[in-house]
Amino acid sequence: MIHTFKSIDELAVSLSETMIRLAQESIRKDKPFNIALSGGSTPRVLFEKVVSGNDDPGLWEQVNFFWVDERCVPPDHSESNYRMTDETLFYPLSLRHAHVYRMMGEEEPSAEAERYEALLRSQLPEREGLPCFDLILLGMGTDGHTASIFPDQMDLLQSGRICEVARHPASGQQRITLTGPVINNAERVCFMITGANKAGILASILENRRGSEKFPAAHITPAAGTLEWYLDEEAAQLFDGSGR
Ligand code: 6PG
Repeated sequence: MIHTFKSIDELAVSLSETMIRLAQESIRKDKPFNIALSGGSTPRVLFEKVVSGNDDPGLWEQVNFFWVDERCVPPDHSESNYRMTDETLFYPLSLRHAHVYRMMGEEEPSAEAERYEALLRSQLPEREGLPCFDLILLGMGTDGHTASIFPDQMDLLQSGRICEVARHPASGQQRITLTGPVINNAERVCFMITGANKAGILASILENRRGSEKFPAAHITPAAGTLEWYLDEEAAQLFDGSGR
């Protein structure tokens, strides 16, 4: 399912409404809502719309927040995905942190990947032997990476682990990341992609063009769950509507 919007703002309002609806549906059934968040700049706009559109203050206290990936930096570092989320979502919603399970970027990376994997196995329902998220929010980099699975680390898409240590190809920065199998095991995966600088790779992926397999984002194909693309017109400008 591909949703295209005139602006990132309109996209973020729509995706925030979907998030709120899914969380409410889950909680109405007395089921915890387990969501994994991505970092970067795009989710910031989404979180702002969740806050401004929030008319159910108690809702988010019943949601369990996890991360798709985290930079191996302290939680107060300017590049921390947790810090960005705390500033734009948790603090404005006065959310207690009881249900916030951050990847600890300040810890030794491989030990933290193991710890987080064990945490996911203990906290999430299982399907096909893997933790099953209700919703995973993903972005896509201008190189076609998603989560912290970069084009030079494609093995992370088929990893036997749930969490692994990755490395940013340009900066060398270490990252903790969810791997392909657990992402593809989610009930629902939503990509949020904006900007003209992603239009070429996005069209290649959505049209299943030859060569698109070199982009990690092309390998996000939830086995049983649904996959949705939330795009602004700039990112979707080269997509001809055929394909996925
Ligand atoms: C991260 C993200 C990363 C992000 C893409 C897109 O930690 O940086 O998880 O995978 O989703 O790089 O980032 P933008 O949304 O900033 O374009």
